[in-house]
Amino acid sequence: MDHDFWHQKWRDGQIGFHEKDVNPLLIKNLPALKLPGPSRIFVPLCGKSHDLAWLAEQGHTVVGAELSQQAVEAFFEEHEMVPTVTQSGALRRYRSGPVELLAGDFFDLTEQDLGPVDAVFDRAALVALPAEMRRAYSARLRALTGTAPQLLVSFDYDQSQMKGPPFSVPASEIHAHYDPFYTVDQISSEPISGPLGQRTKGSETVWILSPG
Ligand SMILES: C[S@@+](CC[C@H](N)C(=O)[O-])C[C@H]1O[C@@H](n2cnc3c(N)ncnc32)[C@H](O)[C@@H]1O
Repeated sequence: MDHDFWHQKWRDGQIGFHEKDVNPLLIKNLPALKLPGPSRIFVPLCGKSHDLAWLAEQGHTVVGAELSQQAVEAFFEEHEMVPTVTQSGALRRYRSGPVELLAGDFFDLTEQDLGPVDAVFDRAALVALPAEMRRAYSARLRALTGTAPQLLVSFDYDQSQMKGPPFSVPASEIHAHYDPFYTVDQISSEPISGPLGQRTKGSETVWILSPG
C-alpha cells in the first residue's frame, strides 16, 4: 500500500471506510480506557473521521495523523473550523481549538511533532496496512506513545475471500504485536456488519491495551 494508493482513493472519493457518523464502538468503549479526565488522544491514520470531533466534544484534546492533506483540509471544512497551519518537521500541522491534525506520513512523525499522548484510538489504521507494514506501524506507534492505553478495533476474516484493505488481523497477530508491551484484553467480538459485512463474513473485535 504505497502513498499513491491512498492519495488516489481520496482524489477519486473512493472512501468507503469513512463513516457517516461517529463510530459506535468508540462511543461504547471509550470508558474502558479509564481516562482520569480530559486527555490528549492520538488517532493514527485518522482520515476525516467524525470520531475526531466527537472526542473533542467529550472534552479531550485530539491529535490525528493522516497522509492525505485533502482529507485533513476536508475535515476542518466539513466541521466549519478554520485551522492555523504550520510546518512541523516533515508534516504539516493543522490546528483549530482542541483538534490538531498532522498531514503527512505517519512513519515520518517524531515524538517532538506528536507531543505527549494519554491514549490512542486505532480504528481502521492497523487493518489498513499490509502485514509487513503492520509490524513497522505497531513498533512505531509504541515508540511514539510509550504504553499509553489504546482502544483498537480489528477485523478477522478469511483473507483468501477478499483482498484488503481492510486486512484481516487475527487475534494471534494482535497478541504478537502488543503482548510484550501491554496487557491485551479483548472487549468484544461481533460479526462484521455494514458494507464490509456484505463483502465478507468474519468478526470485528475491540481490544483494550493497557500498560503493564
Ligand atoms: C482505512 S482509512 C481509515 C481512516 C480513519 N481511521 C477512519 O476510521 O475513517 C486509512 C487512512 O490511513 C491513511 N494512511 C495510509 N497510509 C498512511 C501513512 N503512511 N501515514 C498516514 N496516514 C496514512 C489513508 O490516507 C487513509 O485515510
